[in-house]
Amino acid sequence: MPTAVEQTAARGLEGVVANESSICYVFGEEGRLIYRGYDINDLADHSTFEETAYLLLNGDLPTREQLKGFSSDLKAAQKIDRVVQRVIRDAPTNANPMDVLRTAVSASAFVDPDRGNNGREAEYRKAVRLIAQLPTMVATFHRLRNGEKPLAPRRGLSLAANFLYLISGKTPDDELEHAFDVALILHADHELNASTFAARVIAATLADVHGAVTGATAALAGPLHGGANTEVMKMLLEIQSPEGAEAWIHNALAQKRKIMGFGHRVYRTEDPRAAHLRRMSETLGSRAGQPQWFAIQRTVEDVMRREKGLYCNVDFYSGSMYYVMGIPLDLYTPIFAVSRVSGWCAHVLEQHADNRLIRPRAEYVGHMNRRWVPVRKRG
Ligand code: ACO
Repeated sequence: MPTAVEQTAARGLEGVVANESSICYVFGEEGRLIYRGYDINDLADHSTFEETAYLLLNGDLPTREQLKGFSSDLKAAQKIDRVVQRVIRDAPTNANPMDVLRTAVSASAFVDPDRGNNGREAEYRKAVRLIAQLPTMVATFHRLRNGEKPLAPRRGLSLAANFLYLISGKTPDDELEHAFDVALILHADHELNASTFAARVIAATLADVHGAVTGATAALAGPLHGGANTEVMKMLLEIQSPEGAEAWIHNALAQKRKIMGFGHRVYRTEDPRAAHLRRMSETLGSRAGQPQWFAIQRTVEDVMRREKGLYCNVDFYSGSMYYVMGIPLDLYTPIFAVSRVSGWCAHVLEQHADNRLIRPRAEYVGHMNRRWVPVRKRG
């Protein structure tokens, strides 16, 4: 008689090492993060999103020439095909932008020039197109739902500045562009987080890049993952003022509410990305004449550390930073995707370079040895 697997499941796969990777690593105890061996603080201080995306995909920082070529490939691929435009246009104006993005990514497989070709070079070209096009997809829907004409991407701008231009019609000043670019660098990859693992599981069946990125986008949308940044801002709006923050958070904890933007599966100390976002959120908040959100957040942070021993994660200060930049709440998670697509694609390429199907086992806890009975005899 067959028996079930006699192993205990690691709930949520906590602590399980699922594959080798040379893309990114989270040092949970120390609060350190590296992309391809480079410390995230160095990249945030000195790099650009384009350079970081190249690093993730190729393994090394680009030379001047390589960066020029990569940036011009991105710019050449920014426009989205009519078929994808139509899919976005057909979405109801009250659709969730993450649902629209997921659908647009999936639809872009119909018209990808390399469709059907899963060779390494074709997959790299698909990755470049997806990195270039996600900003246009998000902004196209945003403009349409506001009754505005989608704008054409501007080739002279960086990916960060172009995204801000596409959603608002205004070219950002240097400070806003730089802050947004740093936010994109910080979100670009994070080892085997849920959406990246989803992408790798899909890719490991030898499914295509678009399928893997579609699935990853779906996984990112959840409030326990990338969806938390929007929830953080909803919470700050509910708290309203710094004076009410301490009482609000005590009350929420007493009700056993999960506080969005706190906790992490791997970090046991501060998420190194949060320090950059905290600084930028404070600076941009005062610049926008809205210092209250930062003040509320400092109180929430203090209480969470004192009462729960929990530190904030990447989603805590990104929400308030985007808010004071005038970006609507439901675009925060799509912005996460605009950056993370670079990491997802790097992982798909790595998975396909040395593929093995990802197929774990379950610890079976259900019934055994039941006998089928006809429907008329079932009580
Ligand atoms: N607020 C209150 N309590 C929390 C929080 C939180 N944000 N996070 C963890 N805890 C508590 C849990 O209640 C649990 O306590 P218990 O052992 O007394 O029941 C303990 O800490 C462990 O929490 P788990 O949820 O089991 O930890 P897990 O590793 O499964 O989850 C997660 C990590 C999902 C990030 C969790 O901390 C959480 O839900 N945070 C809020 C959502 C969030 O900010 N997500 C973004 C994560 S970063 C990213 O994906 C980009």
